[in-house]
Amino acid sequence: MPETTSTPQTADFLVVANRLPVDRRTGPEGELQWRTSPGGLVTALEPVMKRKGGAWIGWHGAPDETIEGFEHEGYSIVPVPLSSQDVEEFYEGFSNATLWPLYHDVVVPPVYHREWWQTYREVNQRFAQAAAAHAAQGATVWVQDYQLHLVPAMLRELRPDLRIGFFLHIPFPPKELYQQLPWRRELLEGLLGADLIGFQLPGGATNFVNLAKRLVGVQMTRDRIRMPDGRVVLAKAYPISIDANGFRDLAREPDVQAEAAQLREDLGNPKRIFLGVDRLDYTKGLRQRIRAFGELFSSGELDPDENVFLQVATPSRERVEEYRKLRDDIDLLVGRINSEVGRIGSPAIAYRHDSYPRTTMAAMYSIADVMVVTPLRDGMNLVAKEYVACHEGDDAALVLSEFAGAAKEMKQAYQCNPHDLDGMKETIMRAANDSTMNRSRRMRLLRKQVFSHQIDDWANDFLRDLGA
Ligand code: ADP
Ligand code: F6P
Repeated sequence: MPETTSTPQTADFLVVANRLPVDRRTGPEGELQWRTSPGGLVTALEPVMKRKGGAWIGWHGAPDETIEGFEHEGYSIVPVPLSSQDVEEFYEGFSNATLWPLYHDVVVPPVYHREWWQTYREVNQRFAQAAAAHAAQGATVWVQDYQLHLVPAMLRELRPDLRIGFFLHIPFPPKELYQQLPWRRELLEGLLGADLIGFQLPGGATNFVNLAKRLVGVQMTRDRIRMPDGRVVLAKAYPISIDANGFRDLAREPDVQAEAAQLREDLGNPKRIFLGVDRLDYTKGLRQRIRAFGELFSSGELDPDENVFLQVATPSRERVEEYRKLRDDIDLLVGRINSEVGRIGSPAIAYRHDSYPRTTMAAMYSIADVMVVTPLRDGMNLVAKEYVACHEGDDAALVLSEFAGAAKEMKQAYQCNPHDLDGMKETIMRAANDSTMNRSRRMRLLRKQVFSHQIDDWANDFLRDLGA
């Protein structure tokens, strides 16, 4: 995937994220491969960088190797190396076993370790230094997500000439949960180094401002935070979206349509296809969703001869204990359900633990009659928006958890509480059996919403408020 290997010059616009848009992997024959990195952050920001150019600073996904920067799709890639210890303590530890569960309503208990916190600070300092070294005078630097909370303040210390923005892709929790964190004040101070702090929903911005007043003692003037040094920081919601036109065009490509037809055939040409698409993460509500389908199939409410539930789950954070447990639980659940319902050779639940090219994702969205997105908590959830952008026919339905950020905008989805198994089953059946007129009306309104708030609108709104 790298086009040239040259050390990038300084840039006027920089994105700093834990992940680069491409991941370096070792293939089956030991060869080196580049693959699109997992998750919504990369899906959202890739088109922004292709349009604006500049530099993307991040980790390339493999430990203990230092690689050269290169040009990619019209912008510069600047890799930041992480050692095995960094991966264990900064990425798997503090980022994904401390902050991730804490920010997602403590759906599993967060783990607090002082060594992880030390490494988190060191790695954030490394990202800040890389940004400082690659930013032109007066450049705009846009720092992304919970892995890099301390970068805004560290970067301001190194380069006071920069405009610094920060966007949190995941929920920002209420004070009752956030205050568990032993380093709660330091993280807030790190973020307050930015000129503009963006959240997915207004509730996240309010939680942040209340905590900053309480724990850091900042003053408020209307919606602005006034810092002791006279700087003014704005904290506001910018619900993220997707390149809806790009997804729609992709889904219309003849190769993708042919792949969709083949996929439908491989699934046995069922009357109805339900689809789930997620990173394999405990916040996504997979255990609950699969149990719901298991009960619908075994009770006969869904006939396995006519209905298939296709679930794909991208491997994610596989060395973190809770993710390992989740993988085993899902394997077990799916195996048990398929051994009890359906026929040999045509399982009721078609489950793949794999990651697919975007063309295949578009093909899956095209053939899904009912898309089922039921996270226990999610900052936004781009899968819900991708489905609406890719699926052409109106006679289709989106089932969406009330606990996904997307639920605030996608009001016409069939919404459910994923903690309430009977309620979720009832909503899935209502979405599947509702009249064509109702389903079509909802799909049309959803499409209108998704196509009128695209990723460029999101980036432009944020960068305009940042004064970039
Ligand atoms: P998160 O950022 O928590 O992973 P999102 O729903 O916002 O959740 O984004 C997930 C992204 O990952 C989407 O762009 C989706 O298309 C992609 N994705 C999810 N599952 C797969 C898969 N099995 N293969 C490839 N891409 C996937
Ligand atoms: O969108 C949330 C997010 O945590 C991103 O920050 C991250 O890049 C993505 O999900 C995938 O997770 P990871 O980088 O840990 O594989």
